[in-house]
Amino acid sequence: MFDKIEAKTVGLRLVQPSDAEFIYNLRINDNLNKYLSSVSGEVENQRQWIEKYKEKEQNNEEFYFIIYRKDTQKTIGTVRLYDFIKEQNSFCWGSWILNENKTRYSALESALLVYELAFKKLGFEQSHFDVRKNNIKVIGFHKKFGAVKVDENELDYLFIYKKSDYLEYSKKLTRFLK
Ligand SMILES: CC(C)(COP(=O)(O)OP(=O)(O)OC[C@H]1O[C@@H](n2cnc3c(N)ncnc32)[C@H](O)[C@@H]1OP(=O)(O)O)[C@@H](O)C(=O)NCCC(=O)NCCS
Repeated sequence: MFDKIEAKTVGLRLVQPSDAEFIYNLRINDNLNKYLSSVSGEVENQRQWIEKYKEKEQNNEEFYFIIYRKDTQKTIGTVRLYDFIKEQNSFCWGSWILNENKTRYSALESALLVYELAFKKLGFEQSHFDVRKNNIKVIGFHKKFGAVKVDENELDYLFIYKKSDYLEYSKKLTRFLK
C-alpha cells in the first residue's frame, strides 16, 4: 500500500521482524515506558509478535511504523494504528515512542503523518485513543490539536479527534510536513 511517508525531518516506514531488537529495547527503557503497557518475554517474542502483526498488515487491519530520521536514516521510535472500528470509521493510534535521537519536532511530525495517512489516505473520519491520566505532557499535546476527552477509566482518559478538526488545525502546521 505504501513503503514510507515523510514529513520535514522524520519519516514512517512499516515495521519488519528485523526491528524486533530495537523495539524491545525501546519498550524496556525505563525512561520511556512509564505510561505504556509493559511487554513480556524477550527479543524473540517481540519478533514473533511482529510476524503475527504482518498478517494483519496484509489485511489492512493494522499498521505498525518505525519512525526514522531523514538525515541519518537512524531508527528513532515507533507508532501504531490499530483497532479500526468500521461502524464509526474510527481508528486508534498508540505505541508512540521516540528515543533520545529524535529531532526537535519528531513528535509533532509523526502525529501529523499519522493523521495525514489515516484521514486523507485511509479514509477515516475520526480517531480514538487513550492516554494515561498522569501523562500530563502527552495530554497537553493532544488537547492542543483539539482532541476531546470523552471518557475515562481508573488508568486512562479516552480522547476522540475528528477529521474536520484536524483539517482545520493542521492548516497552520504545513511547514512541518515539507
Ligand atoms: C510521547 C512522545 C513520543 C512525545 O514526544 P516529545 O518529543 O516528548 O513531544 P513534545 O510534546 O515535546 O513535542 C516536540 C516539540 O514539538 C512542539 N509541539 C508539539 N505540539 C505542537 C503543536 N501542536 N504546535 C506547535 N508545536 C508543537 C513541542 O513544543 C516540542 O517543541 P519544544 O521542545 O521546542 O517545546 C515522547 O515523549 C515519548 O516517547 N514518551 C514516552 C512514551 C509515551 O508516553 N508515549 C505516549 C503514550 S500515550
